[in-house]
Amino acid sequence: MAPLDTLFHAARAVQAKAYAPYSRFKVGAAIMTPDGKIFAGCNVENAAYPVGSCAEGGAISAMVASGESRIAAIVVMGEGDSLVTPCGGCRQRIREFAAPDTAIHVAGPEGIRKSFTLDELLPFSFGPHNLGAR
Ligand code: THU
Repeated sequence: MAPLDTLFHAARAVQAKAYAPYSRFKVGAAIMTPDGKIFAGCNVENAAYPVGSCAEGGAISAMVASGESRIAAIVVMGEGDSLVTPCGGCRQRIREFAAPDTAIHVAGPEGIRKSFTLDELLPFSFGPHNLGAR
């Protein structure tokens, strides 16, 4: 299977596991690292609404916990017919571990709907370089 297909299937599988009893809006995200490892995450809501977390954040946490720190590509899959692009906070979370040309693929259950680069979704971004890192 092509790497992007594998990533797509990982995002779809984890979306089904989302805990979203309040919004009923399930999101799945799957990250591929430069050497092909895949990490997935789903949104996890909470009765105290602001404490809930996004799918992308969950996938990033899994990646970092396993010792990885570079995102080569990410697939985000949400509900409905509209494009579910990463929220503003998640664009910044992705930015921490990605390059301007890193691919962010937005998917529905039928497949990839549109692909962006990080720089398209978060231009002129603040990042590690501002603090003298990387
Ligand atoms: N959500 C994500 O998981 N990722 C995004 O980028 C957009 C929004 C979740 C948060 C909340 O659980 C639900 O979608 C509705 O906003």
